[in-house]
Amino acid sequence: MTVTNSEMTVTNGVQGTLRKGAPTLPKVSGREPLLFTPGPLTTSATVKQAMLADYGSRDKMFAGAVTDVRQGLLRAGGVSKEKGYECVIVQGAGTMGVEAMIGTAVPRTGGKVLILVNGAYGTRQATMCRYLGIPCEVLEWPDSDPVAVKDTLQKLRTDATFTHVSMVHHETTAGVLNPLKEMALSLKAEFPKVSLLVDSMSGFGAYDLQMEWGIDFAVSSANKCIEGVPGFCFALVNREALKKSEGNARSLCLDLFDQWSNMEKTGQFRFTPPTHAILAFQQALKEFEEEGSVQGRFARYQSNYEAMKRGMEKMGFTFYVQNDSRSCLISTFNMPEHPNFIFQKFYDSLAARGFVIYPGKLAKGASFRFGTIGRIFPRDCELLCAAVQVTCEEMGVPLPLSKDAAKEALKRKEPEAAAVNGSKRSKVTPRMSLENIDLIVCDMAGTTVMEGGIVYKTLQKYAKRRPNCFRP
Ligand SMILES: Cc1ncc(COP(=O)(O)O)c(C=O)c1O
Repeated sequence: MTVTNSEMTVTNGVQGTLRKGAPTLPKVSGREPLLFTPGPLTTSATVKQAMLADYGSRDKMFAGAVTDVRQGLLRAGGVSKEKGYECVIVQGAGTMGVEAMIGTAVPRTGGKVLILVNGAYGTRQATMCRYLGIPCEVLEWPDSDPVAVKDTLQKLRTDATFTHVSMVHHETTAGVLNPLKEMALSLKAEFPKVSLLVDSMSGFGAYDLQMEWGIDFAVSSANKCIEGVPGFCFALVNREALKKSEGNARSLCLDLFDQWSNMEKTGQFRFTPPTHAILAFQQALKEFEEEGSVQGRFARYQSNYEAMKRGMEKMGFTFYVQNDSRSCLISTFNMPEHPNFIFQKFYDSLAARGFVIYPGKLAKGASFRFGTIGRIFPRDCELLCAAVQVTCEEMGVPLPLSKDAAKEALKRKEPEAAAVNGSKRSKVTPRMSLENIDLIVCDMAGTTVMEGGIVYKTLQKYAKRRPNCFRP
């Protein structure tokens, strides 16, 4: 990027005086930003390069890549076609895979799903059931805790009408690992007729998932821990369960049975395939296996997390999820209480340095998240922490963070500054702060449509008295 210099002195980190009108140096070194997010994620150069070819959907090379990908994914789930399992690729985002799984697996009559919820992605499954007209019940835990096997079994003992249990393997909302293996084995032992559906979007490839534990359907996405690019998701399926699902689907596009049987008969996708994303994924799977598959990938992500944890804890940042339940994939940090810590400034400053982070998604309490997945390494996590340190210095937030320093600063600061982060801990009531606000800008990145609607309605309610400061 070239920026034209309109001032006489431009530094960009380099001391010196440039001639007026001369091009200035780009603001970053030219390397791409690193994504410390839950996805899309940073991918390797070789994965990106694999996309530099245009194949027709009927090309033999492309068909070979599809076969490779389907077999590789079954291997990653510990199974194969010979063992009675299938891999079905579905175009689109991960949510479409989850909707395809639920909409295909549950019969049109007599089906009822017990949905285990400890975050936004479990809640989204309940929303899907509502849209699809599928009877369901939710068993819920706080978003900082894993779902519990004991409570689930107890629920099934008291209500024999459930045909399916649906759960999230790694709840990305706060970064909580759920006990998938124990759940699957327990269900298989006590309720063999109840079918287990798993959303393993952000877990698959990093945390072990073996279909033979007793999982009938599991879905994940190309752009999570296998480190491909976005464009499709996939389901690993027990073939018997898939065959039984014929005619269940409530949607043509999201019919896993039809997608599979058509691919088996013709070797083709029913609709335009994500050709480039499949080629990238073929390369990503190769790199995944070269790294040591789940074990190797987990080891790198764990090292990433440890490096990031060391740096963040040294600066006084605190985790939202307790150590035992916390995954090494996504970390949620409590928003610092210091009034100078403004999330948008923090985000922008890190982004300008080439580090993209993510807002929090908790039901209550302000937070932000760092993902330590994708093609990043411990050294990148150390650089992120160094950037956090510089950013805090720039914002006037003393490190290490301390509650006393934050309290002192809060006493000194104008009250409206404390309201900017929307922190529950803020002493400023909306009533007081509204008097001083000229414009409300709301960053809704990472929120669902439903959450967006709630925030919108809340803002409208508060802004009735100040209509000019609220612009949808
Ligand atoms: C556990 C889980 N389920 C579902 C999804 C939805 O995936 P997508 O955003 O690709 O639709 C995500 C996304 O991060 C996720 O983490």
